[in-house]
Amino acid sequence: MKCIGIEGTAHTIAAGIVEDKSSKCQVLSNIIKIYRPKQGGIHPREAANHHATYVAEIIKESFLKAGIDSSEIDLVAFSKGPGLGPCLRTAATAARALSLSIEKPIIGVNHCVAHLEIGIGTLDNCTDPVLLYTSGANTQVIAFAEGKYRVFGETLDIGIGNCIDKFGRSVGLEFPCGPKIEKLAEMGSKYIELPYSIKGMDIAFSGLLTASEQFFKNGERLENICYSIQETTFAALTEVTERAMAHTEKDEVLLGGGVASNARLREMVETMACDRGARCFVPQKDLCIDNGAMIAWLGLIMYKSGLRMEIKDSHIDQRFRTDMVEVNWRGK
Ligand code: ATP
Ligand code: FE2
Repeated sequence: MKCIGIEGTAHTIAAGIVEDKSSKCQVLSNIIKIYRPKQGGIHPREAANHHATYVAEIIKESFLKAGIDSSEIDLVAFSKGPGLGPCLRTAATAARALSLSIEKPIIGVNHCVAHLEIGIGTLDNCTDPVLLYTSGANTQVIAFAEGKYRVFGETLDIGIGNCIDKFGRSVGLEFPCGPKIEKLAEMGSKYIELPYSIKGMDIAFSGLLTASEQFFKNGERLENICYSIQETTFAALTEVTERAMAHTEKDEVLLGGGVASNARLREMVETMACDRGARCFVPQKDLCIDNGAMIAWLGLIMYKSGLRMEIKDSHIDQRFRTDMVEVNWRGK
């Protein structure tokens, strides 16, 4: 079975085509285009205009790259949510138009669950992980428990990527700031104590962001601040992930989202996993960030499990929660 997935929750408009081979995911194409605001944060309407401009081109390119014709597609999947309304609507509209024109069924999927399922689908021996999902807008620890995907911990304010980007912008770095801060952090030599805020299983980053900006204004070396931001925030993420693993008794951890590109975050999570006798998995980079292949793959496994959606029900849901997803493609 072949499925095309269209992603459009936030910065990224993307289309990917996947096929299932012995229950594993084969990615035939994965075309990604990212909207980068000239300054400031993301403006939903401008991002949606960007997506509307490029979505047809990206779909065409995904067919070309996969080397298949639209008649060979069996299913059209799209990101139903969570995300920014105008962006989601643009991707869903494109998916509906495609589904109607090629006369193939449509299915809307949860973006966060897609980040997890693409890991299981593409990585050997990754079967039931705890996902540490760290992107711009999202920071969640997700795992399958008692018949549902559940969020065990999440940010109470901003996503870790947003925290890093906001600090970066306040000191004059260009978006996306994550990779630049990672380089600066490598040159840091002193740990500055920053707010380490875990409440129950949830994390807050805005206190740390304000404190970091204050240290910069007071003349602290940028390298030391970047180093301390990474050490503090990544330690908190690792702690919550470890607690979710202990609670669910799972011995696999999967990283996802743009911040998973960070070598120090990977190192910390790998060390934690190793200490617990668990294994750590990271999908390849274009499957870690927002992409169409993960949407296609989740759509495909949902459809194969018997789930169906009519065009008239293919609406978006900006607040589509992970635990609202009906999961009937895996056992208890
Ligand atoms: P969503 O939150 O909807 O999943 P997004 O567009 O914010 O979408 P991604 O593309 O997954 O998410 O991630 C982008 C984020 O990842 C940015 O905040 C960026 O700064 C951060 N990032 C990218 N590379 C690194 C890195 N090496 N270290 C830290 N952060 C990074
Ligand atoms: Fe994402």
